[in-house]
Amino acid sequence: MLPERKQILVVDDEPNLRRVLGAQLMRDGYDVHTAEDGEQALQTLQDHHIDLVITDLRMPKVDGMELLRRSVAMDADLPVIMITAHATVDNAVEALKTGAFDYITKPFDQAEVRVVVGKALRTRDLSAYDARRSLEDSTPHVRYGIIGFSSGIRELYAVLDRVADTPTNVLITGESGTGKELVARALHENSSRAGRPFIKVNCAAIPRDLMESELFGYERGAFTGAVGSKPGRFELASGGTLLLDEIGSIPVEMQVKLLRALQESEFERVGGIKTIRVDVRLIAATNSDLKKDIETGSFREDLFYRLNVVPIRLPSLRERAEDIPPLARHFIERSNARLSKHIQSIVPEAEQLLVKHPWPGNIRELENVIERAVLFCDDDVLRPTDLPPELRPGEGAFATGEEGATASGGTSSPAEGLKEQVKAAMSRLERDLIIKALRQTRGNVTHAARLLKISRKGLQLKMKELNLRERDERFDS
Ligand SMILES: Nc1ncnc2c1ncn2[C@@H]1O[C@H](COP(=O)(O)OP(=O)(O)OP(=O)(O)O)[C@@H](O)[C@H]1O
Ligand SMILES: [Mg+2]
Repeated sequence: MLPERKQILVVDDEPNLRRVLGAQLMRDGYDVHTAEDGEQALQTLQDHHIDLVITDLRMPKVDGMELLRRSVAMDADLPVIMITAHATVDNAVEALKTGAFDYITKPFDQAEVRVVVGKALRTRDLSAYDARRSLEDSTPHVRYGIIGFSSGIRELYAVLDRVADTPTNVLITGESGTGKELVARALHENSSRAGRPFIKVNCAAIPRDLMESELFGYERGAFTGAVGSKPGRFELASGGTLLLDEIGSIPVEMQVKLLRALQESEFERVGGIKTIRVDVRLIAATNSDLKKDIETGSFREDLFYRLNVVPIRLPSLRERAEDIPPLARHFIERSNARLSKHIQSIVPEAEQLLVKHPWPGNIRELENVIERAVLFCDDDVLRPTDLPPELRPGEGAFATGEEGATASGGTSSPAEGLKEQVKAAMSRLERDLIIKALRQTRGNVTHAARLLKISRKGLQLKMKELNLRERDERFDS
């Protein structure tokens, strides 16, 4: 998607000047509005979003100085460039004192205009960025509950706008934690199916021989233990949306049946003779490379094309590092609310560490890191020391390559290596979190569990899994 064009307002009582300057600005890629005096200009400022004003000084009714004063009062960050004749540079100086960004002299030098306009617009962007840095007055760019300013995410918004309310099959691909499920839900919520069920099936979690009955249901006596009949996920999703997550792990023989259900919109329950028709919008998601799976024969090409009508590829967080600060602020606000904390801001050094981290676990990992940092931050600002060691240079496993050895060693594929790396990072995070909670509660598991918002039993299980003993001198400090 093209970035939005900047809106420039040209104010001058001479039609010729408006035309010449306007034409140059349009050639340079801006949208141009014009006004013949200050009064009209103020009206335009009320009615439109304007990024920059270029105004003549001497005009009838409201003159340039008056326009400058009023527009500064309306929006101090709106840059105003004054146009003056050589003879009136004194006026230009006065204008600068009143808050004009710069001035240009008549007759225009095209190159000079270009430089001054570029500089003014960049300053405007920077002050908008500064404003976003403070938590209270920051609203991260959110649509569909999906946060991001990056071009990748803006393209995603555009695709969602177009396909949300259609019956078209969508295939969402992306690394683990990039928001595939979030996008699937957004598609459902923004369609006319929103009031109907959204059913999610994790294909990797269903045992091979139960897959068919899970998807299509079964009739009584279909197999040993089938004492009653049961609808499958397709039937449950009727009128709504069905998300087949980790579609890459569907066994090949099931793929044939799935293809038929999609092609003909009908199927039978296991052990049933009645043909069932349902109206279901299908969304599939995967973090594996289906094209490769097709080459190795583990995924059917015909099914792939059936699912891949609209492909949505979610960028990894590394590919859109500019979204990290707004996402971090969003998660800080959420954690504040959840944990009754009042973190006001994040220091630039800490934000830099977040931006530089490769985030193998993507947004889910960022979410966990922030929640943990907020939980243990005793101040009202987040600092580098609140972040886990692997984000700080020279510390942690990512820097030493300890995990890297697992990722590249042995027979595992790069994707599996990455998965391992994510798992290791997650359990390190969990371990850290639990140790800190236990320290804070002097080893009291019940209190620590409450702090972590999990059950006591859950915490004990986790501790066992992570080799943590309840009585540990570390927790007494
Ligand atoms: N752009 C975003 N804005 C806000 N939150 C997001 C965004 N993308 C993802 N999240 C959050 O990150 C977490 C992970 O997202 P989600 O479960 O959708 O990822 P996924 O791609 O399905 O991961 P997996 O492959 O591991 O199943 C969720 O809590 C989700 O709400
Ligand atoms: Mg998922």
